[in-house]
Amino acid sequence: MKTINLAVFPADGIGPEVIAASQQVLHRLAQLHGGVSFECREFDWSSAYYHKTGRMMPADGLQQLEAGGFDAILMGPVGSPAIPDHITLWGLLLTIRQGFDQYVNLRPMRLLAGVVSPLLNPHRHPISMVCIRENSEGEYAGVGGRVHQGKPGEVAIQSIVFTRRVTERVMRFAFDYARQHGHRLVTNVTKSNSMQHNMVFWDEVFQQVAAHYPAVATDQQLVDSMTARMVSQPETVDVFVASNLFGDILSDLGAALTGSMGLAPSANLNPERHYPSLFQAIHGSAFGLVGKNVANPLASIWSAQLMLAFLGETELATRLMSAIETVVQDQRVRTPDLGGTSSTTEMTEAVCRALETEPTAATGH
Ligand code: IPM
Ligand code: MN
Repeated sequence: MKTINLAVFPADGIGPEVIAASQQVLHRLAQLHGGVSFECREFDWSSAYYHKTGRMMPADGLQQLEAGGFDAILMGPVGSPAIPDHITLWGLLLTIRQGFDQYVNLRPMRLLAGVVSPLLNPHRHPISMVCIRENSEGEYAGVGGRVHQGKPGEVAIQSIVFTRRVTERVMRFAFDYARQHGHRLVTNVTKSNSMQHNMVFWDEVFQQVAAHYPAVATDQQLVDSMTARMVSQPETVDVFVASNLFGDILSDLGAALTGSMGLAPSANLNPERHYPSLFQAIHGSAFGLVGKNVANPLASIWSAQLMLAFLGETELATRLMSAIETVVQDQRVRTPDLGGTSSTTEMTEAVCRALETEPTAATGH
């Protein structure tokens, strides 16, 4: 029996509800499969923890996590209306991303059968895009400062940091991912028309890395026109690689185009596995929905599926993806974000039931 050790952070808002749902599904999956079990250690580091202690996590939080020997981290959304977002996010999520060198943020954006996209899409093109977002530096490097606060001469600087090591490796990841998963095209999302230093550098590195992958086609798109392309010709978008902020913005667009923020998963990866990777829905903490049992748990459950795939649990990952697809396609059980009236609990139970059926076809990501 193989044990997978998980650090679980219910975190904020609807987090506890969607994380409990994800754990329930994982345990059911393990039960059905037989060969594996999940050992979950829960951490209460969150906005509530901040209210008690003045910190989002203990000063030695990263060391504690590292010492725990976890295979992965499953996290709910972070953020509370009562605390400025930059405090909660830099106090936990962004610190873990940087500290654990999770330099890839992998975000599949796929229109599942049974979901209505806000796009008209008269030809019913399949929409399936994968955002490979640089996740550890760039616009989120955290470098900068403010002087003369509150005075007319105040200056605020947020520097964008691109290093060759990080830029190269995220692009290599994008090409490796494309190759391994049978994608034909990698699009470089850039803004080198106006940003003549960092983005021209970014394009150069892209070209250099691309040269090692002759079998993968490439193209280049300025980030502003990328938003238009994702809306008007989403079928032409396959894998794209983008800087931290550009990837952040485009992945919300992709989530909306594929039907609901309640479906969009993400994987914060340290591909070398020197540190645990972190899996989290891309939606926020949605305090307005807390305690109502209406949050769509599928984004979090799909994130757990990405975790299984990353950990090499291919059979479990395939089975879980197939269950998610079955529930969505079936349309009988759906939460309000998908136009239904089902509860979080009902949706979770539907996934657990669907798991009992063997997967019929190999699925994408
Ligand atoms: C995301 C989120 C975070 C980000 C926020 C909460 C800091 O929007 O994971 O996309 O910008 O990366
Ligand atoms: Mn975001």
